[in-house]
Amino acid sequence: MSLRLGDEAPNFSAETTEGKINLHEYLGDGWGILFSHPKDFTPVCTTELGTVAKIMPDLKKRNVKVLAVSVDPLDSHIGWVKDINETQNTTVTYPIIADPEKKVANLYDMIHPNALDNMTVRSVFIIGPDKKIKLTLTYPASAGRNFDEILRVIDSLQLTANYSVATPANWKDGDDVIIAPAVTDDQIPSKFPKGHKMVKPYLRYTPQPNK
Ligand code: BEZ
Repeated sequence: MSLRLGDEAPNFSAETTEGKINLHEYLGDGWGILFSHPKDFTPVCTTELGTVAKIMPDLKKRNVKVLAVSVDPLDSHIGWVKDINETQNTTVTYPIIADPEKKVANLYDMIHPNALDNMTVRSVFIIGPDKKIKLTLTYPASAGRNFDEILRVIDSLQLTANYSVATPANWKDGDDVIIAPAVTDDQIPSKFPKGHKMVKPYLRYTPQPNK
């Protein structure tokens, strides 16, 4: 059965380009992204891994560790990283799991045989400090992922983990947020001293509380 939001992220140990890694130990008490790539030395994957290398400072600022996985072996990954660094003008510093036996791919249900034969689709799992799965995404091989969106949703997850708010469509860090339905009107002034706007009784906005 596939993993669902709120499930514990299954732990594993695996060989990576940065040595052997145990997922839960690697994440420590921070956030994590585990994401899969169909195959080494393929064009879309090359741009994705390069993009992730470039946003490492943004991820570090958010206390997020990254772990990529593909079902090719370690020597292939090592050769491919050289190509990624060269063609994407960056340096990959995060680990890429070598998963030729598909242990991680199967554990996280990343192989969708009706879409791709024997390779992983483009899966993303965002894992919280409690090791629970906070977000899953599944993209086809033909569509490279939008890592700006992944940073955006991490901002939303980290905000809503600490405040009784939700984020509206197309929200970006710094925009007004929605007061959670569980907050009564009476509680608003003490919880959200920056003020609020009631559009409907069920649609109440407040400035982002941690800004
Ligand atoms: C790619 O990354 O370009 C790719 C990988 C597998 C199938 C199709 C495209």
